Amino acid sequence: MKKVVLLVSTLILVLIIILTLKQEGTPEWGRYQTEYFKEQLANLQIELGSVRDDNEKQKLLAEIESYRQRKPEIVNLTLPNGETERCKTCHIGIEEISNSHPSDTMGCAVCHGGNPLSLDKTTAHAQMNGGGHPGSLDVASLSCGGTGPSGVACHSGNQDLAKNQVDTVKTSIMSTKAGELSVVRRMFGIDKTTEVPGLDKVVGAYHYPNPLQGRPNEEVFQQDCLSQCHQSTGDLHLNLKNPQSATAQPATASNEKVQANGCEACHVLTNPTHTYIGNDPTIQENQSGRGMVHRLTTQIPYTQCNQCHNQGTHDPIKMKLSARSDIDKVTRDWQAGDLTWTDRVRDYYLPGEVFARCEVSLDCIDCHTKLDTMGDGEFYTSQHEAVHIQCLYCHGTKEKLPQTKKIESPNELAVQMQRQITNPNFPTLKIGDEILVSAKGEELAFLRHSGEDWIQSSRVTGKPFKIPLVIGSACEQNPEEQGADSCHKCHDRTAENP
Ligand code: HEC
Ligand code: HEC
Ligand code: HEC
Ligand code: HEC
Ligand code: HEC
Ligand code: HEC
Ligand code: HEC
Repeated sequence: MKKVVLLVSTLILVLIIILTLKQEGTPEWGRYQTEYFKEQLANLQIELGSVRDDNEKQKLLAEIESYRQRKPEIVNLTLPNGETERCKTCHIGIEEISNSHPSDTMGCAVCHGGNPLSLDKTTAHAQMNGGGHPGSLDVASLSCGGTGPSGVACHSGNQDLAKNQVDTVKTSIMSTKAGELSVVRRMFGIDKTTEVPGLDKVVGAYHYPNPLQGRPNEEVFQQDCLSQCHQSTGDLHLNLKNPQSATAQPATASNEKVQANGCEACHVLTNPTHTYIGNDPTIQENQSGRGMVHRLTTQIPYTQCNQCHNQGTHDPIKMKLSARSDIDKVTRDWQAGDLTWTDRVRDYYLPGEVFARCEVSLDCIDCHTKLDTMGDGEFYTSQHEAVHIQCLYCHGTKEKLPQTKKIESPNELAVQMQRQITNPNFPTLKIGDEILVSAKGEELAFLRHSGEDWIQSSRVTGKPFKIPLVIGSACEQNPEEQGADSCHKCHDRTAENP
């Protein structure tokens, strides 16, 4: 008996040694590439099974053959400025980050840093900007706010403040949480106004010393409220359970917290488990804390905003957030993608909230444009002061039409066209077209006036909506009362009564 055991263990040992030697023969990057080719082959085989057309079939067969022949090789990406990068030797298959950041001219290091010539994982990744999160606000000045390969200033350091998103986002109320600090201090009678003494745009509210001046709840308030759900790496209250798996296991074995990382919080779309489902073979699929794919977008659906908004209610006594009772359905719908009106109404706001139809049929960013979402450079201590969109920008009042502006010069046109990158489906803008303008002068090219029609194009889908005007309708508003609360007294749909 003992002899058999000895023999078997010797055999296993020999096998392990052979396998290890074989592995060492293939460089690490070679293994990633082999895995990538294997996955592509499997996908193509599946596609082949469903194709009827003969020409298509031949094309797929040729592609399958070429993957079979493919051997791992070093990927040298030479940029227009002469620099060579090899990151894709391991990160083969990674998605293009966006059309305005093409990898063949911008490469990877411009955002990520690191050592792009190295083929050793540790050396290649040394001094990366924010590890897997270059959009994190503590490194955004180096990544998003840095200098492009052609020497231009990217999203910081421009003459035009509106182009310095890195600076405005850092001081926006979603990053500082100044509004929450101010509300709670006023609730406890510490401050009389929205002003918080000593708080400025550099100090996030979560770093504010003695926020409740030593009251018993101070510590919980700091931990469970102030430090959560903000863009400066605040923890997200997510239900990471995969609602479709029977066992409802969290996606991460370690159940680690998922944080919101600056620009990525809005511009990189996530699934409910915050896991990566793209084609990069190096990235594990079961690790939370990532976007769905390596892709930046400005077509941000409401689900992305609702990672933080409308997830539950804050209990001011216990200083805790209790998740909304229907959170499981909300998470399921998020996974399902395209939603019906009924699902949308039930998921959009917390149960019990009041809204007009457009506040659900449109997405959040159709109303909350960049001044609301990325800040305007001012430091606000109340949400109410920070919001600049008003119902009347689109609907006018009983006395006034919405404010508009005519596109008159090719110059203006060019500026607007550039902004239209935010959705490829917008109708083309021409000289003579009339666009809507906010009271702060923000030009809203996705809102147009043409003849009798006032049309809004969804920033997420491009779908057109007719905007009904107050003028000429039977609206009973008092033109002096233009706050949303006044409108909601009459325009009072709810999830229960949509
Ligand atoms: C415009 C800036 C930008 C460029 C250029 C860029 N990335 Fe990224 N990359 C990001 C952002 C932002 C994230 C974070 C995405 C997230 O939240 O999951 C990221 C994440 C990643 C990840 C982690 C996986 C993931 O998607 O989360 C890898 C790996 C990666 N990038 C590799 C590369 C490689 C290789 C290149 C060059 C081919 C490259 N990146 C070019 C911005 C960039
Ligand atoms: C030798 C292979 C290899 C090379 C070369 C390489 N990477 Fe990676 N990279 C990996 C692997 C493997 C991972 C998965 C995480 C891990 O194992 O550390 C990864 C993860 C990443 C991540 C996510 C890190 C995180 O902590 O979430 C980023 C971003 C990234 N790589 C960017 C780059 C960039 C940019 C370059 C070029 C400068 C590069 N990589 C070169 C193998 C490589
Ligand atoms: C990482 C969490 C997070 C994400 C993601 C997020 N928000 Fe916020 N947002 C907040 C917090 C927290 C506040 C309130 C801060 C306070 O009162 O101190 C806020 C406030 C706001 C306000 C009121 C103040 C202002 O700046 O106008 C609006 C409007 C808003 N968010 C819209 C959005 C939209 C639209 C999106 C999606 C594109 C979004 N938010 C995504 C956390 C987030
Ligand atoms: C709270 C959500 C949110 C965050 C965080 C955010 N953005 Fe945006 N961003 C938006 C929205 C919404 C738009 C579309 C704006 C519009 O209406 O024009 C946008 C548009 C943009 C554009 C397109 C040009 C423009 O101004 O319209 C750039 C560039 C941009 N963001 C960069 C950044 C950078 C860099 C960061 C991080 C420092 C960042 N964003 C963080 C929501 C966000
Ligand atoms: C049809 C336009 C519209 C849509 C869509 C919309 N909002 Fe608003 N939102 C407004 C207006 C207008 C205000 C300003 C209310 C006022 O008069 O004070 C506002 C105010 C806010 C505030 C400030 C808090 C407050 O009560 O004043 C937050 C936070 C906010 N919205 C978040 C969101 C989020 C998140 C979404 C998407 C889930 C969204 N909004 C969708 C129009 C809209
Ligand atoms: C960015 C433009 C925009 C803003 C801001 C906006 N709306 Fe609308 N509104 C629309 C559009 C577009 C429609 C048509 C929606 C549809 O067909 O589903 C609409 C429809 C309506 C309607 C008629 C449908 C209904 O509910 O019976 C009312 C009332 C209304 N909005 C009230 C408001 C109120 C109140 C606010 C401020 C909280 C507001 N709107 C802010 C664009 C806007
Ligand atoms: C005292 C009740 C009342 C208040 C307050 C009120 N409305 Fe109205 N509104 C109505 C009625 C009634 C109608 C006509 C019925 C209808 O068409 O739905 C109407 C119609 C409208 C319409 C046209 C809808 C359509 O489909 O043609 C818009 C847009 C609108 N209101 C916006 C607003 C906005 C924005 C506010 C706040 C500034 C507001 N209303 C405040 C009662 C009110």
